[in-house]
Amino acid sequence: MSQKPFLLAAEGLSKSFDGFKAINDLNFYLDEGELRTVIGPNGAGKTTFLDIITGRTQPDQGTLLWDDSKHDLLKLNEYEIYRLGIGRKFQTPTVFNDHTVAENLILSLAGSRGIWHSLFGKTTSAQRDRIAEILTTVNLADHAHRKAGALAHGQKQWLEIGMLLAQEARLLLVDEPAAGMTDEET
Ligand SMILES: Nc1ncnc2c1ncn2[C@@H]1O[C@H](COP(=O)(O)OP(=O)(O)OP(=O)(O)O)[C@@H](O)[C@H]1O
Ligand SMILES: [Mg+2]
Repeated sequence: MSQKPFLLAAEGLSKSFDGFKAINDLNFYLDEGELRTVIGPNGAGKTTFLDIITGRTQPDQGTLLWDDSKHDLLKLNEYEIYRLGIGRKFQTPTVFNDHTVAENLILSLAGSRGIWHSLFGKTTSAQRDRIAEILTTVNLADHAHRKAGALAHGQKQWLEIGMLLAQEARLLLVDEPAAGMTDEET
């Protein structure tokens, strides 16, 4: 085990599906603020690794610790892991199509107090500033009041990235983030 502080530490992770080793004795360390890219051919186990980190899949062996060993992720459920600040973007955009772009971001704001209050309660000026900032970052400022379902595919990808920013996750996991985007957007 490394002695340096870490955000995420996976050691000896293995996962088999019907005898096929999707992940074999994987060690992976991530520091705060670090950007890492995992590449590999189809079926290499990339999505499975994200599934393990986010609590969708249990590994057969290995350890997975968060924030300097403060939490054992293998003992937590998906929601508890999300609450620790681990956000995930799926390959297909998952946004609320019937809500506006701005509402989607409000629903994702860190510390949001339930759907009803988020949509119909008053947003604070700090929250409105944060939403405006994110809208600019993801290039959707001109689309804030459109229904998310009416956006182009690439814009939905951006909206979902904005939702992760609103969540203020400490770790953003993005599975094939450029799928369906133009070269310029990528
Ligand atoms: N729930 C499951 N049940 C059975 N087999 C699975 C399951 N999930 C993944 N696999 C298998 O595990 C292997 C790794 O798949 P995984 O989706 O993690 O690869 P990947 O690197 O994300 O591939 P891609 O680049 O195609 O997205 C594949 O052979 C896949 O068929
Ligand atoms: Mg995959």
